[in-house]
Amino acid sequence: MADLDDLREGSNFGIGKPVENQAFYLKGSDNLSWGMKDRLARIFRPDTGRTVMLAFDHGFIMGPTSGLERIDLNIVPLIKYADCLMGARGIIRSSIPANSNKAICLRSDAGTSILTELNHNVVIDVKDAVRMNASAIAVMASIGDAATEATTVANICRAVDAGQEYGIPVMGVTAVGKDMARDARYFSLASRMCAENGANIVKTYYCEGFSKVIASCPVPVVIAGGKKLPELEALELCYNAINEGALGVDMGRNVFQSDAPAAMIQAVSAVVHDGLTPQQGLELFNDLK
Ligand code: 5RP
Repeated sequence: MADLDDLREGSNFGIGKPVENQAFYLKGSDNLSWGMKDRLARIFRPDTGRTVMLAFDHGFIMGPTSGLERIDLNIVPLIKYADCLMGARGIIRSSIPANSNKAICLRSDAGTSILTELNHNVVIDVKDAVRMNASAIAVMASIGDAATEATTVANICRAVDAGQEYGIPVMGVTAVGKDMARDARYFSLASRMCAENGANIVKTYYCEGFSKVIASCPVPVVIAGGKKLPELEALELCYNAINEGALGVDMGRNVFQSDAPAAMIQAVSAVVHDGLTPQQGLELFNDLK
């Protein structure tokens, strides 16, 4: 119980000084709940408004792919350079130290593997994301794939309902439908569908005319890295995406399959957060590796 014999009456009420109403800094997020904003602010650095998410969820469909054979050896040393870790619950629980103190974007749909037909996924219980203190849950939508489009969009809707209940943002991940062209028209459609169905972040791919994808998506967009590229090209991808309005990257293979993953994630971060050009990023990469 607090001492009662020295109760001091407050005197500094700032009378006449109006309370400042602050707009939230992320696109399309101003009307979200406090908990959602708090979680988004753990993912998107408040000083830059951007994020470097490290994606290592690949194993949930493809097993121990190159660069992810040993999460303790391949990913744990990179944690300190990332703003957010994106992985599946089994790998995070088994292999990521709980005292890493990083935002977690929990891969929250699961289903088929690369051996059968991809994307027949169900959504895991949002309570597991709560138990894991996730800052967001990631659910994939397979737009343009007749076999799985409706189910995966329904998955997004279910995740959004659950996320709203617990204050957990949903990241809609656009998986490219089998017969779709990877162009701005397709990614605008897929990204917008994720956002319209309630996703708070959209993860998609960079393409020619990307600023159209950004302009037509009302919530923050981050890009996947895609297949491994030479480091300079990967840094150009980050630079162009950021310059055209992406608020970050959610990158996997171009980091963990690099010859020097720790140097690469630091170079990516410098391009995303500090405005380095791809060439400057490459110089940083070469200095660090
Ligand atoms: C697949 C994913 C991956 O996390 C995503 O593709 C990012 O990894 P990469 O940069 O290797 O493409 O969400 O559904």
